Amino acid sequence: MTPRSFLLTQELADYVRASSDAVDEVLADLIRETAEMAERGEAPGSMQIAPEQGVLMRLLTTAVGARTAIEIGTFTGLSALCIARGLPADGSLLCLDRSEEWTAVARRYWERAGVADRIELRLGDALPTLRALPAEPAYDLAFVDADKTGYAAYVEELHPRLRANGVVLLDNTLREGRVLDPQDESDRALAELNAALATDPRWETALLPLADGLTVLRKR
Ligand SMILES: C[S@@+](CC[C@H](N)C(=O)[O-])C[C@H]1O[C@@H](n2cnc3c(N)ncnc32)[C@H](O)[C@@H]1O
Repeated sequence: MTPRSFLLTQELADYVRASSDAVDEVLADLIRETAEMAERGEAPGSMQIAPEQGVLMRLLTTAVGARTAIEIGTFTGLSALCIARGLPADGSLLCLDRSEEWTAVARRYWERAGVADRIELRLGDALPTLRALPAEPAYDLAFVDADKTGYAAYVEELHPRLRANGVVLLDNTLREGRVLDPQDESDRALAELNAALATDPRWETALLPLADGLTVLRKR
């Protein structure tokens, strides 16, 4: 595996992984198959979360006692698989993505890992799908990893749908360091959102320098 964090050397990335819970065969196969898709040009490289981030997301899901979760941006299913494994057997995860092709891979691995019955996938544009969900506190945990210019709207729509003390995880909030000097609209969107969240009284906010930056929000 190549280092996924621009903050780590290959040696340190290997050390971080060796010092955390191991990636099992199902996850390893999913990572390999997704990399092969990228090599064949069937998917962009570097869309998938880093393995060590998946370990943390599973741990956090269990630690906050989440029973219901929602994910925006599923791709081939690695982050969803990690969240689903952190849920109790009767827990549920709603996944939103617009790619039938990429999420077909996800479905296969969720079946193989024995968590498919905890996951519902809704295909389509995430924002209208999210807005169509009842605006009441239904979720304990949310993960956002879709179009970066949509993050601010996703966070707004998630707020009323999250229980008090519920947690939102936002991926790629460092944009490989470009939040310091935004190069495109995605970088600018994340830089502006990071600044807004740091002083938003509705959230307790911690930006972790993990992988490409993982912001953790707790609903006050
Ligand atoms: C970075 S990938 C997600 C990676 C995934 N979390 C993982 O661990 O493998 C982003 C995904 O968001 C989806 N996406 C992007 N914009 C979207 C939108 N507006 N509505 C729904 N899905 C969207 C893409 O189809 C893609 O699968």
